[in-house]
Amino acid sequence: MATWCKTMSIQIEDLSKDYVMGELTVPALQEITISIEEGDFIVILGPSGSGKTTFLNLIGALDRPSKGKIHFNGLELASLSEKKLTQYRRGNVGFIFQFYNLVASLTAFENVELAAKLTNSSDEASKITKELLDVVGLGDKSNKFPAQLSGGEQQRVAIARALAKKPKILLADEPTGNIDSETTGKILKLLKQINKDHHVTMILITHNVGISYLADKVIYLRDGKIFGTSVYDPAKEEEFWETLTAAPAIEKV
Ligand SMILES: Nc1ncnc2c1ncn2[C@@H]1O[C@H](COP(=O)(O)OP(=O)(O)OP(=O)(O)O)[C@@H](O)[C@H]1O
Ligand SMILES: [Mg+2]
Repeated sequence: MATWCKTMSIQIEDLSKDYVMGELTVPALQEITISIEEGDFIVILGPSGSGKTTFLNLIGALDRPSKGKIHFNGLELASLSEKKLTQYRRGNVGFIFQFYNLVASLTAFENVELAAKLTNSSDEASKITKELLDVVGLGDKSNKFPAQLSGGEQQRVAIARALAKKPKILLADEPTGNIDSETTGKILKLLKQINKDHHVTMILITHNVGISYLADKVIYLRDGKIFGTSVYDPAKEEEFWETLTAAPAIEKV
């Protein structure tokens, strides 16, 4: 498949999110300013509760900010109606979660096809589904139900499903958090390949410092704020692949 992304950029300005629960206000994200360009592979690294999922949910318009702006190709998300936000998500954003979220009563093929049908005719959806299951290496398991697949295979179905709409942005929340180290390697290689071949902008959340070495840019979150950033270092990536095959236990921040 050819590159499917046209020029894309996301400008994030002073983004904050407070969760209000009665008398209590949790400042989950505070004044984040950052820009993300087409084809970037961004990793968001931070300890539990640092605001990673909150940040991803705002970019994916699953939630609205308390303050600040996200401009997607010049479109300000907070100013959009629910209907327009659904169109934004449907047309541009693919989601991958830690626990796959596949429909248990549908086969691998049907799970992916369901997403492909949202933006394609039936014939086209079927073709795209077959193609994507091949991309993730599951062409021969397309008729299996999620319960008949391993965790890594289920996650690959979820990746194919996220790609079915040919998203410009792929948002992945701990996609390998529940997977052994060998399968983690396969999933990460697949995500890098998709990022490289199709220029899909990737924003991936992890606790795992090693995984951050794959990114073009790492955003460190702590207490809802950007604590630091770093850029790609090929020596670090190499070190990560060696560590992954040598020792399954990975350091946590
Ligand atoms: N729906 C919610 N209502 C109230 N507080 C919330 C809600 N979601 C998250 N929070 C709080 O906001 C802060 C950031 O949460 P978030 O889920 O973004 O963290 P995280 O970095 O993704 O953590 P983890 O690594 O554990 O998934 C935390 O203090 C959390 O308790
Ligand atoms: Mg989270």
